[in-house]
Amino acid sequence: MNELMKRVFELKEEIISLRRQIHENPELSFEERETTEIITSYLKSHGIEVLRPTPTGAVGLIEGKRGKTIALRADIDALPVKEETGLPYSSRREGIMHACGHDAHTAMLLVAARILQENREKLHGTVKLLFQPAEEKAAGALQLIKAGALEDPRPDAIMGIHVWPYSDAGSIGYTKGPAMASSDFFSVKIKGRGGHGAYPHNTIDPVNALVHTVSSLNSIVGRTVNPLDSVVLSVTTIHAGTAGNIIPEEATFGGTIRTLNEDTRKKIERLFKSIVTKVPESFGAKSEIDYKNTTKVVYNSPEFVDFVASVMDKAGIFKKREELPPTLGSEDFSFYLEKVPFGAFLRLGVRNEAIGAVHGLHSPKFTIDEEALPYGTALHVAVAYEFLKGE
Ligand code: NI
Repeated sequence: MNELMKRVFELKEEIISLRRQIHENPELSFEERETTEIITSYLKSHGIEVLRPTPTGAVGLIEGKRGKTIALRADIDALPVKEETGLPYSSRREGIMHACGHDAHTAMLLVAARILQENREKLHGTVKLLFQPAEEKAAGALQLIKAGALEDPRPDAIMGIHVWPYSDAGSIGYTKGPAMASSDFFSVKIKGRGGHGAYPHNTIDPVNALVHTVSSLNSIVGRTVNPLDSVVLSVTTIHAGTAGNIIPEEATFGGTIRTLNEDTRKKIERLFKSIVTKVPESFGAKSEIDYKNTTKVVYNSPEFVDFVASVMDKAGIFKKREELPPTLGSEDFSFYLEKVPFGAFLRLGVRNEAIGAVHGLHSPKFTIDEEALPYGTALHVAVAYEFLKGE
């Protein structure tokens, strides 16, 4: 193990230069062609078998002796954000930026793959490398799963890492049980009957119906959910009307719902649909509801987290390890955990005030302390190595 960890830090510059190369050439969800090219050519140059089950993204296979399989995942897509970091290796593509650190995820996993491949004779099993497109659209994981990425061989365990600008560089954060939220998105159209603003009695005012509906929705969380259960219901868009003297025909609103519990999620969907149907009805208006379930709750197996913690202690390759509270952000990593429950999604601290790495995910000024990157690579290597260790 010590040799492996030494090797990780020997390759620190390689992790950083891969990360910068990907950072300079960001690509949006499902358009990650050059990124996929970087990934596949790096893996192949180190003798790693590469499968291409989807148009972008890739699956690598490192085969040791017969045994179990562990999947390691990195997401690879960038965001429609105009970079404002001023760094010399800033994005060369106008309006596209790796503002969520997926460049770092990809680079850390690539070098971990190289090191595991160098040591494959000592592995009793297979490491499956999932380089996943389109995490930002919460669609890439499902695409890879549908294309068979979790079959042949089927992983017995899975791990993913996200850089975390809210914790100090080099720290590893973990959460047992629910770690990230389910996310649902809604958009609602309330249909009334338009007319003159001075004669409301001759109309069915959709704006008034909307206002009552939205304020009733705000009572779901406060009055029907257990206060110890975490839920967010945010109405984030409202559109209606064109002029001060016209009552419009319709009004629309939209937003998102987050929960940390799948039962609560179903209950809220039911209440939401009931309020959004009945409140407008009480004013004579009608509603059309478009309600989409996207990611599920990211549920980290407590047993797997304990295993990772013991590996970290044994390898001693982190600045600090800390249990973090869940967040109501969301991740399509949840779809892998649904199929492979023995797994977890961890957070690697990348914050460093001294170099200005203090901005949040998706910020145009988001940047990381690259000194943290070997710790992420080390975690991938150590967890896979220990999981596949022979008896
Ligand atoms: Ni992300």
